[in-house]
Amino acid sequence: MKVKLSVNVDHVATLRQARLAFYPDPLAAARIAEEAGADGITIHLRSDRRHIQDNDVSRLREAIDGKLNLEMAVTEEMISVALATRPDQVSLVPERPEEVTTEGGLDLTGSHRVASAAERLSAAGIIVSIFVDPDPRQITELERLVQHGVAGFEINTDRYTRSEGMGTSGVPASTELERIARCASLGGEAGLAVYAGHGLTTGNVGPVAALPKVEELNIGHSIVGRAVLIGMKAAVREMLAAIQAAAPS
Ligand code: PXP
Repeated sequence: MKVKLSVNVDHVATLRQARLAFYPDPLAAARIAEEAGADGITIHLRSDRRHIQDNDVSRLREAIDGKLNLEMAVTEEMISVALATRPDQVSLVPERPEEVTTEGGLDLTGSHRVASAAERLSAAGIIVSIFVDPDPRQITELERLVQHGVAGFEINTDRYTRSEGMGTSGVPASTELERIARCASLGGEAGLAVYAGHGLTTGNVGPVAALPKVEELNIGHSIVGRAVLIGMKAAVREMLAAIQAAAPS
């Protein structure tokens, strides 16, 4: 199975917003990413609009050939944006105003808000995915949410990318990878599409790309960071090569 890459272009917009300028344009970056072989584009419209802006969502909706994945908090405001702009997919994420980036997955235990949001979004033909930590209890909740229109989930790889052996200390990377693998196989066996992402680089992506059931990786910061040095096309190609070298054939 080919493991797909969705390139997150949020941080192209971060650079633009740092000067409230018109450049660099995340849409131009998205087009180059697609030319380089990306299967889709991801953007996160945050409530504080710190990077992606509302008109980026509609412009990208028009311009992108592959799958447009909109990461969003489960709020009325964001549900309205999604229903109006119709991305191919939404990824429901938790959001805290003071966080630097998404800090963890959504806790689905006992959440009714997510079920009703998923129903409304899926009824509009939008694929609904949920960002969760690699915890089997969340997979049990996801299975319950299938009847409410949830089609897939994204496993948060943040702890793995910060684990011992990946440049920082803490729980060994192998333990974190096992947690991800277990949730990938539980969710995949339940018929859910399995995605993964957060903190992935060309140096740590291999073991995640190699996991059975993982269909797609969502990668942003490291690609945009690398693009500053070698260009967007080369940065995307480099990541695709790292993924395909590891992915099961
Ligand atoms: N997945 C989710 C749910 C995210 O919030 C982010 C960051 O926007 C990513 C993946 C991509 O993470 P990174 O930018 O570290 O590659």
